[in-house]
Amino acid sequence: MKQYIRLTLNQRIQHIILIISFLTLVATGLPVRYHDTAWAGFLINLFGGFEMRGIIHRTAGVIMILGFVYHTFYIGYLWIIRRKPLTLLPNFKDAKDVVHNLGYFLGIAKQAPRFDHFNYIEKAEYLALIWGTIVMILTGLILWFPDKAICFLPNVIFDISTVLHSCEALLAFLAILIWHFYYVHLNPHVFPMSKVWLTGKISEEDMKEERALEYERIEGKTME
Ligand code: HEM
Repeated sequence: MKQYIRLTLNQRIQHIILIISFLTLVATGLPVRYHDTAWAGFLINLFGGFEMRGIIHRTAGVIMILGFVYHTFYIGYLWIIRRKPLTLLPNFKDAKDVVHNLGYFLGIAKQAPRFDHFNYIEKAEYLALIWGTIVMILTGLILWFPDKAICFLPNVIFDISTVLHSCEALLAFLAILIWHFYYVHLNPHVFPMSKVWLTGKISEEDMKEERALEYERIEGKTME
């Protein structure tokens, strides 16, 4: 059966590094926020005590930073050198698709909107990821190096960073658990799991159904 590339090997490796660093950061960070619960005590022991947990948290933080820096250069290279379009940036069609899809769910529109390589849901998730990562890295570095931060930032920035880092951590965890996990695991269409993150490919059938515009562009034909 014919298959189409959805994620390249490079993108799949970036995704796996993000999964590992993010889950490690959540597992070693949230026990600090909820330090008086039994599960937090369990996780802290599992990571070899409070000190060791902190070292693992910072190490995973450095991996996340390296992944983010790499991703920035990777996107820049594709855009500036290879002259590829930034397909994950929202455009006017995405705004129309949101309204169209709402109409479809309410039974007003007869057909669902037709998407290209990335739909508005995926673009929104990607932008939330980029924004969240920037916030976590900046606030994480301030918490890590308060003496350095205090040299050129006002005192209050330390308190703001603590609150932001802690709340954004919970928000990111819940967003992944509810939003992303539904989309790639619990959604009846892909349950128990979409294998795109491993194989990088999707079938012709899925391509026609979920990425009709991309399918037509690649195949050079119009589908009804
Ligand atoms: C999505 C990524 C991350 C998550 C989910 C996360 C989560 C957390 C949480 C929940 C706390 C406890 C805050 C509190 O309630 O007091 C924390 C603390 C901290 N985080 Fe992160 N974090 C992330 C990324 C980072 C990064 C990138 C760095 C470093 C560059 C970092 C460095 C720190 C430091 C230094 C602390 C202070 C407490 C400790 O020793 O663990 N974090 N993190």
